[in-house]
Amino acid sequence: MGAKGFFISKSVGVVGIVLGAGAVATIIALSVVYSQEKTKTDGQVSPTDGAVTTTGPAVTTTTAPSNEPWDKYRLPKSLVPDNYRVTLWPRLTPDPITKLYIFTGNSTVIFKCVEETQLILIHSNKLNFTELENGQKASLTTVGNGAPAPAIKSSWLAVKTQYLVLQLAGVLVKDQQYMLSTTFTGELADDLGGFYRSEYVENNETKIVATTQMQPTDARKAFPCFDEPAMKAIFHITLIHDLGTIALSNGNETGTSNNVIDGKQVLVTVFEPTKKMSTYLLAFIVSDFDFIKTTLDGVLVRIFARKEAIAAKQGEYALNVTGPILKFFEKYYNSSYPLPKSDQIALPDFNAGAMENWGLITYRETALLYDSKYSSNSNKERIASIISHELAHMWFGNLVTLRWWNDLWLNEGFASYVEYLGADHAEPGWNVKDLIVLSDIHRVFAVDALASSHPLSSKEEDIQRPEQISELFDAISYSKGASVLRMLSDFLTEDLFKVGLSSYLKEFAYGNTVYTDLWDHLQRAVNNSGSPPLRNVHDIMNTWVLQMGFPLITINTTTGIVTQKHFLLDPDSIVTAVSPFNYEWIVPIKWMKTNIIQNPKWLQSKSENMTEMKLSEGGWVLANVNTVGYYRVNYDRGNWDRLLAVLSTNHQDLPRINRAQLIDDAFNLARAKEIPTILALETTKYLQKEREYIPWESALDNLDFFYLMFDRSEVLGPMQDYLRKQVTPLFGHFKTNTSDWTTIPAGHMDQYNQVNAISKACSTGLEECQTLVKDWFAAWMNDPGVNKIEPNLRSTVYCSAIAAGGAEEWNFAWGQFLNTTIATEAEKLRAALACTKEPWLLNRYLEYTLKSTFIRKQDATSTIVYIASNVVGQPLAWDFIRDRWSYIFTQYGGGSFSFSNLINGVTKRFSTKFELQQLEQFKKDNAEVGFGSGTLAVEQAIERTKANIKWISENKEPVLNWFVAESK
Ligand SMILES: *[C@@H]1O[C@H](CO)[C@@H](O)[C@H](O)[C@H]1NC(C)=O
Ligand SMILES: *[C@@H]1O[C@H](CO)[C@@H](O)[C@H](O)[C@H]1NC(C)=O
Ligand SMILES: *[C@@H]1O[C@H](CO)[C@@H](O)[C@H](O)[C@H]1NC(C)=O
Ligand SMILES: [Zn+2]
Repeated sequence: MGAKGFFISKSVGVVGIVLGAGAVATIIALSVVYSQEKTKTDGQVSPTDGAVTTTGPAVTTTTAPSNEPWDKYRLPKSLVPDNYRVTLWPRLTPDPITKLYIFTGNSTVIFKCVEETQLILIHSNKLNFTELENGQKASLTTVGNGAPAPAIKSSWLAVKTQYLVLQLAGVLVKDQQYMLSTTFTGELADDLGGFYRSEYVENNETKIVATTQMQPTDARKAFPCFDEPAMKAIFHITLIHDLGTIALSNGNETGTSNNVIDGKQVLVTVFEPTKKMSTYLLAFIVSDFDFIKTTLDGVLVRIFARKEAIAAKQGEYALNVTGPILKFFEKYYNSSYPLPKSDQIALPDFNAGAMENWGLITYRETALLYDSKYSSNSNKERIASIISHELAHMWFGNLVTLRWWNDLWLNEGFASYVEYLGADHAEPGWNVKDLIVLSDIHRVFAVDALASSHPLSSKEEDIQRPEQISELFDAISYSKGASVLRMLSDFLTEDLFKVGLSSYLKEFAYGNTVYTDLWDHLQRAVNNSGSPPLRNVHDIMNTWVLQMGFPLITINTTTGIVTQKHFLLDPDSIVTAVSPFNYEWIVPIKWMKTNIIQNPKWLQSKSENMTEMKLSEGGWVLANVNTVGYYRVNYDRGNWDRLLAVLSTNHQDLPRINRAQLIDDAFNLARAKEIPTILALETTKYLQKEREYIPWESALDNLDFFYLMFDRSEVLGPMQDYLRKQVTPLFGHFKTNTSDWTTIPAGHMDQYNQVNAISKACSTGLEECQTLVKDWFAAWMNDPGVNKIEPNLRSTVYCSAIAAGGAEEWNFAWGQFLNTTIATEAEKLRAALACTKEPWLLNRYLEYTLKSTFIRKQDATSTIVYIASNVVGQPLAWDFIRDRWSYIFTQYGGGSFSFSNLINGVTKRFSTKFELQQLEQFKKDNAEVGFGSGTLAVEQAIERTKANIKWISENKEPVLNWFVAESK
């Protein structure tokens, strides 16, 4: 999956005026970080739903835990599927009596018995089975020669573990194939999981799309199947659908015929059998969408979307970049695209960012559709990156699949790393590869520096229940995975990395692996290259994969002594998790000495004497060049002072990524009390001269924490004065550079930094900026048909204008939000509507978030978090969720709502004893209802609030004094 469902583009990260531009970006970025640890309520989890009637022995769920096979979450190893024939018929109009949207279907699966058994367990969730005359929910026959299949003695649904259970009168014979057939009905709910429905309005008509999201464990909601990634099989899919609609699935359609079924005129579309694949990669879609297409070396490439979107040419960009990216990956993997077609489809309702269904990738509209009149460069970049991410999975993940979900980090970390390579190939002028430092490394450093983090790798037996699997889709898996794989590719060299990768794909095509299989192939590539490195791949990578966290490397340039220790953001936190390596890592160190890149070093123990790093005659040392290493660096004070001096005189002597890194390291080292907070603030003084995006963004991200802690205190004034002073030259630079805001900067990163300049200048009260922005918005309000605001700047302009305005501005923007058919424009407006300073408007907006006709369910959490990011909205959002907790929990609990995002977002600013009390009370009051996926987030919020209270008490005075002195 493209996890960045709540990825916040530059253009959205601009909630200005009161709280400072980047604050929202950081909050949302951090809020994507789901809770990671397994919930501590093992065993005593209530059934996921009560919709399905349970008969037979399943009543045991309410008594003592039993050890029957159907009480276990993993399938027994007795049966292995070979192929399925599945027919599904989604109804796009509700049943007139029950008002339910449903689908009907039938399925046969041919499987082989590999261990004699009297029991068939096959996954099934929320399906109602049609019972046969003998009262059973399925029929069983023998395939080919062999004794007749034993009779089914009893059949029932194990609700908690999501099985259809069939107990047999006799045994299934080893090596014999059997065929199991079922007929069933399911609900086509709007729950964004399994086979579900998405609604949208076109030409004043509400339209329904039937679509799927199977990963990780919802294929079993569409038809009974052996729903584990290693249970690969071939799927023969048939979809029945209304006249005027089209049907899509993983394979190419072989034909569509007219038919009358149950007295109804329908179309029947049959698809080519799939390759051997995992159930979580299946997709079935019925819509009246339109498409555009091209062919690429015999591969059919199509982009599907709403008719209006295709007519407005919003699919063109996606179609244009897909070809180059596919070609890039064919070369990178040295393996041709494994399927005859590549469909990509934009859906109005979609929970994640995108999903890599094999041959039929599904996206949020904002992740696929581009419109040059509405989309910012950040929207465009997001599209290129997500397409790249998903196409990367077509081989890594789909052709070769990790055996079980505990290795998810390798699948997602890998795609999250190479997405930058594919996007860079499609848009070589952008330098997107640099952005991994901000979007992944910095993002995940923030969570991986907590005592509550967890290692990349989990034990297979620890990941069993669907909730445990879902929890793995977190920042550690995606961003830390990406960061350590980038480091690995760098120290091996990209060429060797590719050689190992391609032999891995070749050996395991259509099969399953564990993560060490990749290390084996990389090691083989290294050995064959004739120049093996110091240590083997397994030894090095084990230290990064099997223990949580990352090292702080400290270089003392007066002695040449280099040491490492586990970096913890809160120095008082207690690490209870035991590490097999005692929190030591094998660390590749790329470094430079006074402008010159040196030979890389390896730090292999706690402390080593590296005499080359000792400075005898002036100069400076800078380690972790271009932040290819997954660690932070500290220096002796003398070296820090010399680096600060370089920043203030010749900042370009330091690579631009390292300028960003010095700032990020300094601020985080200060949080961890390794260096004084004032030293961190000193790294921002040179920004007066900085014009590059990456260092600016790093600084603004880090200052967001200061806004969160101080925007309700007397520190705010002097802090705003200081930052206004720092950003004014940047504002002036872009004013000149764009001939008084009439053109857009040429460079991709410059366009980003222009947004920073305007949002920060406006939010710190630079009058020229505020006037400029107000005038642009007023011109649009005067002539709503003509929006001349440059797409890149819209988010910041909307936000600033709504913050400065009142009900009139808000209502205008709300009207535009309801009317626009452009997802990316709606997204910008939805974020900006949270910028108002009027409490009654914010309260009304909070009410709207729970009305799905106003705010789509997929957007409810992030909208509440936007509101909480606003210093005025924060207490309102907190009251709102406390007030509605049990309602929110029951209405939105079904997967589409991230409680951890919500809790993180709403409590980020907490830093007083009173807020701590409220939080503890909240925990107590709702103990009964529970916090679902937010359980750990509540604990973390309490811990974070305590740490914030302490931080403020220690830092407020020196920080205030520094801002007062430096703002003069
Ligand atoms: C499944 O349902 C379709 C449509 O009702 C029907 O044509 C087909 O024969 C059924 N297949 C089986 C195996 O029952
Ligand atoms: C399945 O059966 C249950 C219990 O009879 C019923 O409440 C539910 O609506 C049924 N679902 C569908 C999709 O028919
Ligand atoms: C859309 O439908 C509503 C009510 O169904 C009607 O009042 C309105 O005039 C329609 N608008 C257009 C443009 O057809
Ligand atoms: Zn992915």
